[in-house]
Amino acid sequence: MTIHIGAEEGEIAETVLMPGDPMRAKWAAETFLTDVKCVNEVRGMLGFTGMWNGNRVTIQGSGMGMPSLSIYANELIRDYGAKTLIRIGSCGAMQESVGIRDVIIAMTSSSLSTPSLGFFKELNYAPCADYGLLGKAVAAARDKGVTTHVGGIYSADVFYDERPDLNEQMTRHGILAVEMEAAELYTVAARFGVRALAVLTVSDHLMTHEALPSEDRERSFGEMVEIALEAAFG
Ligand code: HPA
Repeated sequence: MTIHIGAEEGEIAETVLMPGDPMRAKWAAETFLTDVKCVNEVRGMLGFTGMWNGNRVTIQGSGMGMPSLSIYANELIRDYGAKTLIRIGSCGAMQESVGIRDVIIAMTSSSLSTPSLGFFKELNYAPCADYGLLGKAVAAARDKGVTTHVGGIYSADVFYDERPDLNEQMTRHGILAVEMEAAELYTVAARFGVRALAVLTVSDHLMTHEALPSEDRERSFGEMVEIALEAAFG
C-alpha cells in the first residue's frame, strides 16, 4: 500500500494503462480484461488488474491534470515496480488538419509548468515518448483504420484557459492538441528509466468548436484501449 494506492504488493502489473477517469478504468477492465480484480479504491481513483491475451495488465485512473497523474505515476513506478505506463485519454485539437475522433500519439509534450519544473530550473526539458511503444501504437492504430497523427502536444495546467494568444502560438508551432497530463507522465517515466506513451482521442476542437458526440466516446475510448494494449504487448 502507498498513500494513494491501496493495492497489496504484487497486485499491480508491470504494464499500466492510465485513463484520467476512474470509471473509464472500470469500463476498460470489464470490457477488455479477464480475471479482473479491483486493486484500488482509495479516493475513488479505481484501479484494476487482469489479463489480456496472456499478459498481466493494470488499468489505473490518473485523475485530471499533471499534479494528480504525478502522484499515481510516482507510486506505480517507485513502490509497485511499473515498467510501462500508457496514458489513454482525450484531447482538444489545435490544428485544422486534425479531426474529431482522430487519434493523436504524442512524441513529446510541451508545458508551461509541470510538477517537475523544480528539477529543471531554466532548462526547457523536452519530455519524450518511448520510441518502441510509439512505433507499435502507430502501427496498431493504422491497422484499425483510425486516422492517426503523430507529433507534439501541449499539456496545459488549466482547462478554462484565458490566454488565446498562447494557443495561437502553439498552433503556429505545429502542436497537434492540448490535454493535461502527458508531459508529467513522460518526465516521471524518464526519471525512473521506464517506458511511457500517451494515446489520445480528439474529443473537441479548439478551432472549429466541434465536440465528439457522447455516443461515440465509448467506441473511441475502446479503440484507444486496444491500441495501448497492442503497443505494450504486440
Ligand atoms: N483542453 C485541455 N484538456 C483537454 C481538452 C482541452 O480542450 N480536451 C480534452 N482534454
